[in-house]
Amino acid sequence: MISIAVSSQKGGVGKTTVSINLAHAFALAGIRTLLIDADPQGSVGLSLTRQSRLLAGFYDYLADPSLTLDQLIVPTRLETFSLMASGQAGDYDTGGSMGAHLARVRTFLHQISRRGFDLCLIDTAAGLFGVSGDVIASSDAVIIPQQAEPLGIRSVPKLLDGLGKLRVMNPRLQVLGVLLTMVQEDLEDSTEAAKALRELLPNELVFQSQVPRDGIFIKASARGLPAGVMENGAPIRKIFDDIRSEITRKTASPALTSRHA
Ligand SMILES: Nc1ncnc2c1ncn2[C@@H]1O[C@H](COP(=O)(O)OP(=O)(O)OP(=O)(O)O)[C@@H](O)[C@H]1O
Ligand SMILES: [Mg+2]
Repeated sequence: MISIAVSSQKGGVGKTTVSINLAHAFALAGIRTLLIDADPQGSVGLSLTRQSRLLAGFYDYLADPSLTLDQLIVPTRLETFSLMASGQAGDYDTGGSMGAHLARVRTFLHQISRRGFDLCLIDTAAGLFGVSGDVIASSDAVIIPQQAEPLGIRSVPKLLDGLGKLRVMNPRLQVLGVLLTMVQEDLEDSTEAAKALRELLPNELVFQSQVPRDGIFIKASARGLPAGVMENGAPIRKIFDDIRSEITRKTASPALTSRHA
């Protein structure tokens, strides 16, 4: 199994949207995928399962590792796609020093890896500290969504600084790259920002594919679905399948090799 965290310093950059749609793309390709909501705000759960607030999940396990994973893993209609809600964060917030829950997060991922999943994709809360930091420090790889807007690009030095920190936190962490999100092809400020980011960062640090700004994501999340299953969802499905291919190539992980291909 390979574990991939979806993380960013900034909030609202599209982490949850990317996590849901990317997990769906891997599941469609026959990769046994577990999507974990590690954000105490619980947005994956909120959008994909209506009663997610009632579901036990990731934070319940951190509080009580004697919980069995069967109680926490929620199947979906797609056989290869399972979810875990964030559960009750209780005293755990994303603040605080990094490393407090590190051992438990590691045990958790180890337990998950024995459940026959190929991929564990983890949507984290914004920030590289607290439980989000522990998740990054315990994962094999990280994807960093970045909104394609001028203000977002101004935060690139901070982003680079963040990447440096990630590598210190976890020397074996593979930084899969920055994924441009909410790109508006018809808006110069947005395409210019995307271009600027590509010029600033080394090629291999930016995904070739980028996620367009599209109302379909908001409609899909209101219905609790990945955007790709919506009517007219085919172009979005294609984009996330391209991102999936890039990740498969970059990780060169046998776990991610499509079973349908
Ligand atoms: N490509 C997109 N096109 C249009 N709207 C989008 C897109 N990506 C995300 N959004 C919308 O932008 C908002 C923020 O996205 P999302 O929740 O995925 O970001 P996030 O990084 O997970 O935020 P947080 O840091 O709060 O967890 C949501 O309302 C979402 O529906
Ligand atoms: Mg989110």
